[in-house]
Amino acid sequence: MSIELLLQKKGPKISKYIYGQFSEHLGHGIYGGLYVGEDSDIPNVNGMRRDVVAALKAIHVPVLRWPGGLFADTYHWQDGIGSKATRKKIVNTNWGDVTEDNSFGTHEYFELLRQLGADAYINANIGSGTVQEMAEWVEYMTMAGESPMSKLRQENGRQEPWPLKFFGIGNESWGGGGNMRPTYYADVYRQYQTFLPQYDKDQPIYKVACGPNEDDYNWTDNVMKIAGKYLDALSLHYYTIPTNDWQHKGSATDFPEAQWDATMSQTQQMDELITRHTTIMDKYDPDHKVDLIVDEWGTWYDVTENTNPGFLQQQNTIRDAMVAAINLNIFQKHADRVHMTNIAQMVNVLQAMILTDGAKMLKTPTYYVFDMYQKHMDAELISGIGAVPENVSYTASQKDGELTISVVNYDAYEANQLDFTGIQAYQTIQTATILTAQAMDAHNTFEEPDVVQEVAYTGATLSQAGLQLKLPAKSVVTITLK
Ligand code: AHR
Repeated sequence: MSIELLLQKKGPKISKYIYGQFSEHLGHGIYGGLYVGEDSDIPNVNGMRRDVVAALKAIHVPVLRWPGGLFADTYHWQDGIGSKATRKKIVNTNWGDVTEDNSFGTHEYFELLRQLGADAYINANIGSGTVQEMAEWVEYMTMAGESPMSKLRQENGRQEPWPLKFFGIGNESWGGGGNMRPTYYADVYRQYQTFLPQYDKDQPIYKVACGPNEDDYNWTDNVMKIAGKYLDALSLHYYTIPTNDWQHKGSATDFPEAQWDATMSQTQQMDELITRHTTIMDKYDPDHKVDLIVDEWGTWYDVTENTNPGFLQQQNTIRDAMVAAINLNIFQKHADRVHMTNIAQMVNVLQAMILTDGAKMLKTPTYYVFDMYQKHMDAELISGIGAVPENVSYTASQKDGELTISVVNYDAYEANQLDFTGIQAYQTIQTATILTAQAMDAHNTFEEPDVVQEVAYTGATLSQAGLQLKLPAKSVVTITLK
């Protein structure tokens, strides 16, 4: 089958923030995974693991959402500033009832961002916090001149304000974030955003409202109707659960073939969700001033045996790589509305990029997909005409005189082929990589960390007729032409 790429048709810019990440105070998502403290034996810079930061820098994480998730609505930011010896120890009631010593707080978060080169996306506490608490946190982070909170920040060792790019008002306010009804939430949102201080008029903070859970179209309708003119983005949450049953989600590694297929079809619902939610948004916002973001997505399985059920630790296989590629293709297709997404979660939690165990670290198959897709960041989306084989999806973009095409063949057994035409402007293959594996549950372990990794791809033929790609079963391919 063949796709004609329409290189002359101007497409939307694919925001780099589509490749965003999420890290919550949950299990070893932060403590142990990213942050080990300055006194740790694990090599670190200001408490951040050197190995993990180096791996994440290589995929150019553009933005990191923090501190939750559900944790955000129990988080009181003043607990996480000042001397670590005297910071309040709290109980993380959402995630395992473990004691949280607050040694990773606002200063540590911005230090991590500095090391990663990522932008900030902070989620406020509107579930158990107050408007004043939120306003003071923003004052603490962003006020350059003299004020009570900027003075406190300076006393804690930080002179200059930090750049706060994205700010979420509410997380899952329809559920664990307050069990609100959409009309009530929309008014709460309006109130909170009124008192969100914007000290830097040149770079206003981008305001994100809590959006729908999966297919709750009524939520989107009400929030857009009541609060639509006060927000920059509405955030959708959708997790891929192979069994579609929260009580028995299925194993990350030990799963039957039927669950491979179910995972692929569950995850593709993202396309319909985005399409239908944006259709509702269009009704209230025909000029597309409000973005849709997907600030939690990814696979969610039963936790790894003998781990704390509240820590959401799971393995990551070639199946997860398929899920990552399918979703990234969907997000790029909707680049005119989808400005940011944040896969849940960056390290050690759910569909992670990286797993750690003490001083050990491994990169997951999902990590490699994010690595392979980097050239699409901030590129122009290229659309195409033609049919793709069953179980294949692709995306294409152009930037700096290069054409990058990514294709996923998520068929568990059958190889496929996909050809691209209309690309005479490109003469040579610049780079080509593939991620694939034989077994449906192939994954990396601390003992064998390189079982699944991207390697050079030799299945491409570029000629006057176009580009021909041979796609093994269970593979992701990215090719860049010049
Ligand atoms: O990502 C884990 C949890 O999933 C988040 O804390 C919550 O927002 C969602 O339910």
